[in-house]
Amino acid sequence: MEVASLNQAFEKIFNQPADASFFSPGRINLIGEHTDYNGGHVFPAAISLGTYGAACKRSDKKLRFYSANFAEAGIIEVDLTHLVYDKAHGWTNYPKGVLKFLQEAGHVIDTGLDLYIEGNIPNGSGLSSSASLELLMGIVAEELYQLKLDRLDLVKIGQKTENDFIGVNSGIMDQFAVGMGADKKAIYLDTNTLEYDLVPLDLGDNLIVIMNTNKRRELADSKYNERRAECEQAVQELNQKLDIKTLGQLDAQTFDEYSYLIKDENRLKRARHAVWENQRTLQARQALEAGKLEEFGRLVNASHVSLEHDYEVTGLELDTLAHAAWEQEGVLGARMTGAGFGGCGIAVVAKDKVEGFSQALEKIYTQTVGYAPAFYTAEISQGSRVLARKQ
Ligand code: GLA
Repeated sequence: MEVASLNQAFEKIFNQPADASFFSPGRINLIGEHTDYNGGHVFPAAISLGTYGAACKRSDKKLRFYSANFAEAGIIEVDLTHLVYDKAHGWTNYPKGVLKFLQEAGHVIDTGLDLYIEGNIPNGSGLSSSASLELLMGIVAEELYQLKLDRLDLVKIGQKTENDFIGVNSGIMDQFAVGMGADKKAIYLDTNTLEYDLVPLDLGDNLIVIMNTNKRRELADSKYNERRAECEQAVQELNQKLDIKTLGQLDAQTFDEYSYLIKDENRLKRARHAVWENQRTLQARQALEAGKLEEFGRLVNASHVSLEHDYEVTGLELDTLAHAAWEQEGVLGARMTGAGFGGCGIAVVAKDKVEGFSQALEKIYTQTVGYAPAFYTAEISQGSRVLARKQ
């Protein structure tokens, strides 16, 4: 989206020029799924789909929010001195939470603002539209109120908003990827220490294709919390003989040796996924850096297999896309990305095969599932940023 049309849209709604315009990306995850709350590694990247924003500071205490994606809701007005969750306030709960926790952290936000947003991340697609919005609010506040903030502070405030304001018990991957993304680089993050490296995403003659099931992630939150609890319980069982805080601390061999302590088949499968997926993520980074793209692709496939059979978070839609992708010519690897239960998958596909790939998958998917999927090619982009300031 062009800055000029963003500013025009802002002026049309709020009858005055914006102080600045912004962009905050969505994310994909290459590999390392459901490892972030298990103290393991993740390997996400920020993408060129995301949330645009334009904003202007006010002199009173009003917060006025408008989203072109929810135009029917009109301008939603909230008082800066009353930042509480309200279901009726829909999407604005995310920016409200961010402002509340910025204030709680001691940052001075003493007047209101007008905020216009417009996103092109398909809704509920598992590409982190909520983290994108949280970080957008973070950089808007940073800019308008001239806050002194580390990017990592903003990432943590985004996660806190999700956990303590919205009530979703997610890990730090999404906000980290959205906030810290870099052009053509993936982020190899140790979620235990928050140490990270930016790894060039050099895929040679291949592209990443995002495959959208067009199935919304229903039930995702309750199942997500259930998986978390299962992993925590497995840690407790392992701690009859070990002394660990998270499954991410175990290598595959140690896990195997002590797995007899886990007394329930489901918990065994969940824990096995968390441990092996962490190992695969490590190997995938090495393979990518060594230019071993076929090995990288096989690890991506293995991740899906484990999420399908051990972690059980895929379902017919994601499985149909991944399985069909594996059969196509020119595909290095394919898997679900994000929380699962619908949403999106990714495939690494030879550039000259992308068109045939999408056509073949569309046919298979529509026959099996009953409606069409959608495909996008992902540009790996920079994290949340200011686009322009008023002259
Ligand atoms: C969601 C959560 C992340 C992460 C993924 C699964 O996207 O927000 O923290 O747990 O699911 O890897």
